[in-house]
Amino acid sequence: MAILVTGGTGYIGSHTVVELIEKGKDVVIVDNLVNSSIDVIDYIKQITGKTVKFYNLDIRNEEALDKVFKENKITEVIHFAGLKAVPESVKKPLEYYDNNLTGTLVLLKVMRENDCKKIVFSSSATVYGNNGEIKYVETMERGKTTNPYGTTKSMIENILEDLYKSDNTWGIVILRYFNPIGAHSSGLIGDNPNGIPNNLMPYIQRVASGKLAELSVYGNDYETKDGTGVRDYIHVVDLAKGHLKAIEKLEKEENGLNIYNLGSGKGCSVLEIINTFESVNAIKVPYKIVERRAGDLPEYFADAQKAKKELNWETEKTLEDMCRDAWNFAKNH
Ligand code: NAD
Ligand code: UD1
Repeated sequence: MAILVTGGTGYIGSHTVVELIEKGKDVVIVDNLVNSSIDVIDYIKQITGKTVKFYNLDIRNEEALDKVFKENKITEVIHFAGLKAVPESVKKPLEYYDNNLTGTLVLLKVMRENDCKKIVFSSSATVYGNNGEIKYVETMERGKTTNPYGTTKSMIENILEDLYKSDNTWGIVILRYFNPIGAHSSGLIGDNPNGIPNNLMPYIQRVASGKLAELSVYGNDYETKDGTGVRDYIHVVDLAKGHLKAIEKLEKEENGLNIYNLGSGKGCSVLEIINTFESVNAIKVPYKIVERRAGDLPEYFADAQKAKKELNWETEKTLEDMCRDAWNFAKNH
């Protein structure tokens, strides 16, 4: 009996695998390493003392994926595998739709053929779109997405809903992540994107380590507490623990489709992140204020009550922890 983790050598996947192993779960990883390194398997071993079973394959390869199910008794799947860079998705929509949608369709088909009908899916707060609200709650409709990446998340949620309507023996948990940052306290695994990062924390890490000269803060004239953008940042280890709770729910219950926000429920500004990073790490992060970034919303954060009530999950780590752990990882990589 094993849990299949697609995209398990990636940023969130690797942290989740560590939490699963530490709770005594049997894990199998499938990843084609398009955005991660094989070294992560060794880091997971260093952290947990266990060698995790790993298959280097693309989830769109139906035959190979089917073999993984035949060789292992897979009871649940946590599905992280996908491409996630927003600007790249605008430039390469076909690649994004193919990877994220075809990948998910093949996975669901292979799961059904192998009578494995329990899945946790990595969705995003991006599916709420720009609907004028600041606090996002699961009862809100999905909104209009602004880029192909976000659209794939919204479409996959739709596919999962249709699948459940057609066959209510499935157990499906959709997790909508807010902004994951930070790293494992060992400093071995974390977020290390290729090229120049788009997201705030990886960019700060590169500036702090002197690889990039300064951070551009995208606008300080929003109607927010200090004029800069506000988001709900969540420590990746808290996020990983949310997956464990979702798996425990699927293990207990026969079926159902449930959607949960995974966020802290609190908004934090760009300047608050910079200041906290500087003070906990005693390091400067030079920055300049520039124009707003197209497509950015001023402010949003999670209503995290549903996950607390139904999954008995809430964030435990602070912004200080996130900034300290992010730097502890970055300075070694
Ligand atoms: P990541 O890129 O670090 O991890 C994704 C992993 O999937 C990578 O290891 C990559 O090699 C693998 N992969 C991609 N396509 C594959 C394919 N066709 N077959 C096999 N493996 C494949 O990203 P992450 O930050 O860990 O995100 C994990 C999931 O969570 C993604 O689906 C992402 O869209 C979603 N998500 C991430 C964030 C975020 O801020 N990081 C926010 C919301 C949702
Ligand atoms: C972005 C994506 C979202 C995706 C998420 C993954 C967009 C519009 N949205 O969210 O779909 O799910 O990443 O984590 O791309 N900022 C700066 N300077 C920088 C980088 C960011 O000031 O160099 C600001 C942004 O304006 C924003 C905040 O920092 O206010 C967070 O930005 P980012 O980390 O890119 O995440 P999101 O834009 O929230």
